[in-house]
Amino acid sequence: MSALSMIGFTCLTPLQLLTAQVNWAEDIAPIFYENCTNCHHEGAIAPFPLVTFLDVMEYRDLLHQVVEHREMPPWPADPDYRHFVDELYLSDDEIEAIEDWIHFDFSPGDLNAVPEPPSYGQEGSLLERIDYVVEIEPYDLQYNVDEYRWFVIETNFTETVYISHLEVFPGLSNVVHHVDLAYDLSDITLMNDLADPLPGFNSNTGGPNYNKYINAWQPGGNVATYPENWGIAVPPGANFVVEIHYGPGGQGSIDSTKINLQFIQDPEDIRPVEVAWLLSDAAPILLD
Ligand code: HEC
Repeated sequence: MSALSMIGFTCLTPLQLLTAQVNWAEDIAPIFYENCTNCHHEGAIAPFPLVTFLDVMEYRDLLHQVVEHREMPPWPADPDYRHFVDELYLSDDEIEAIEDWIHFDFSPGDLNAVPEPPSYGQEGSLLERIDYVVEIEPYDLQYNVDEYRWFVIETNFTETVYISHLEVFPGLSNVVHHVDLAYDLSDITLMNDLADPLPGFNSNTGGPNYNKYINAWQPGGNVATYPENWGIAVPPGANFVVEIHYGPGGQGSIDSTKINLQFIQDPEDIRPVEVAWLLSDAAPILLD
């Protein structure tokens, strides 16, 4: 280090150093992209976007409270006790960075150098490859109260496929409360779907039959990713069943939720994955 930069360095007070270091463009935007924006973007489940610097400035007064007290992202499990796959909470370092940023007046940094935010449109897949799209027939919501609706998508697989990655794009992200995927080897669910003149059916017609449960997704959920060569087997003849819980308020809007799947391409030494509910007395119906 030259004498000159030594002097430059020692002249900065700790406060100035931090101001220079913690800014939106370099430090804070990536934390928001990873922990906040999948719920806080236009049309998503949270009531306002927190994608751009200006978005965040509108809610600057609330940030300290929700970050310091770990109210956001909503993650009730205690990470000091147990970890879960796809858990979403701020690390101590991330909280400290946001707190420093707040403390030093929300420095924007170089706003021309802000990294590209994640893309949340249905075209914005995070998968390396999309091998199959499970797509419901667009459904015109009939109710202004909660509705559980099941949609059947027939597959034409000639051999067993193994799902290794799965991502969900809710059509109406402000009313889709959850999206579950299962498959049915009988015709029970398909018959119920056909009995209802609209796409899908609800409990007025009957219930679904699940031979195997594949995935559950809620807002904020990320891509379901299994380790290399682990996959959920879907045999030929299976019909996919998508369960969508619509929250209230969507009557008259059209939902077109879809699920992108990536399959194991070269199935050697596949480790088949079974999915079951934690803490549920429904578990027996999930097993063959
Ligand atoms: C899993 C979805 C989800 C994630 C991830 C998430 N939020 Fe939220 N956030 C919500 C919802 C839903 C609300 C509205 C809650 C309500 O009205 O009760 C909310 C409300 C808020 C509020 C308003 C709180 C208030 O008191 O009015 C702030 C501020 C906020 N979020 C910031 C953040 C920040 C910062 C992050 C990331 C560190 C984040 N959120 C991550 C879903 C999420």
